[in-house]
Amino acid sequence: MSRQDIISFLGSDWDRTQVLIRSRLHSDVTLLEQTNDGLLANAGKMLRPMVSLLIARAIGTPTEDSICYAAATELLHNATLIHDDVADGSQERRGQPTLSALLGAGTAVLVGDYWLARAVDLVVDTGHRDAVIRKFARTLTDLAEGEMLQLEKAASGDTTEADYLRIIHCKTASLFCAATETAAVSVDADPEQMAAALAYGSSLGIAFQIKDDILDYAGTDSLGKPVGQDLLEQKITLPLLGALQGSPDEAEIRALVRDIPSHPEYCERIRRFIAERDGVGFAARRLSEWVERATLVLEAFPDGPAKDYLAAIARYNEWREV
Ligand code: IPE
Ligand code: IPE
Ligand code: MG
Ligand code: MG
Repeated sequence: MSRQDIISFLGSDWDRTQVLIRSRLHSDVTLLEQTNDGLLANAGKMLRPMVSLLIARAIGTPTEDSICYAAATELLHNATLIHDDVADGSQERRGQPTLSALLGAGTAVLVGDYWLARAVDLVVDTGHRDAVIRKFARTLTDLAEGEMLQLEKAASGDTTEADYLRIIHCKTASLFCAATETAAVSVDADPEQMAAALAYGSSLGIAFQIKDDILDYAGTDSLGKPVGQDLLEQKITLPLLGALQGSPDEAEIRALVRDIPSHPEYCERIRRFIAERDGVGFAARRLSEWVERATLVLEAFPDGPAKDYLAAIARYNEWREV
């Protein structure tokens, strides 16, 4: 089951989503148009519109609204990545220099704002406008809160697994929830299917970010973004939390994390600690639990290819390298 199989299955719904994304980004300001063209030429995995259209297909027949919401989630996702790279000071994304590295942080913030505004514009003329705007507003609130909580916890060095789950729900799973819930709304899902769409988006999003955090320790060049950044930025993610569990050295390691800004060389010692205690293995087991949850809730949908592809996307997190 490949990505191309899913795209072929989605057929014209997929093509219309791509066309809509491109057309809604159009601007007669040359610098903006060129910047957008550059971003579109190096698009990512487009996982959120894919999941969104599959949920619509699993429940019913995608509508014009389904296409709009799928496109809007990808616009929002890119806006948040552009802003995230400013916040994280990241130099590379999708194997290329980030927008902030190329044009500066100020310009990147403006371009991110533009993509965000175009996403909202896509929703205002649709039939389920009020419900969808409410969900997107929730997600944008979660994103900002998640990134701020992450900064707060990076400074204090006292992140617990509950804090970590809240952060990754807010910064990543919430947008997957918006993708799956708005897709369900677009095909007038019943309450049980709505709840299942939300639960799938939530578990998939958590699994997705756990994998992203594993790849920050275990990824290779194929990832297209720098590895090893999270610890350097004092982000305590699941591989480190797993290694800390039951360790007599917890207080000492957390103190080292707090001192990373003035002693970046401490990272090496902490990485060794994670390797010795197989923190990545711990995170991988948690990841499998969330994948399992995501696939179980799909039971609420009728059997068929859309449901099978949604299960495959959840499982893909166990082996993906990008
Ligand atoms: C990256 O998301 C940001 C996270 C939520 C971890 P993706 O890995 O889906 O990014 P692209 O769009 O495929 O580059
Ligand atoms: C997720 O966090 C990014 C967003 C919510 C936008 P990360 O900071 O880990 O994402 P990457 O690793 O930069 O893609
Ligand atoms: Mg980042
Ligand atoms: Mg990351």
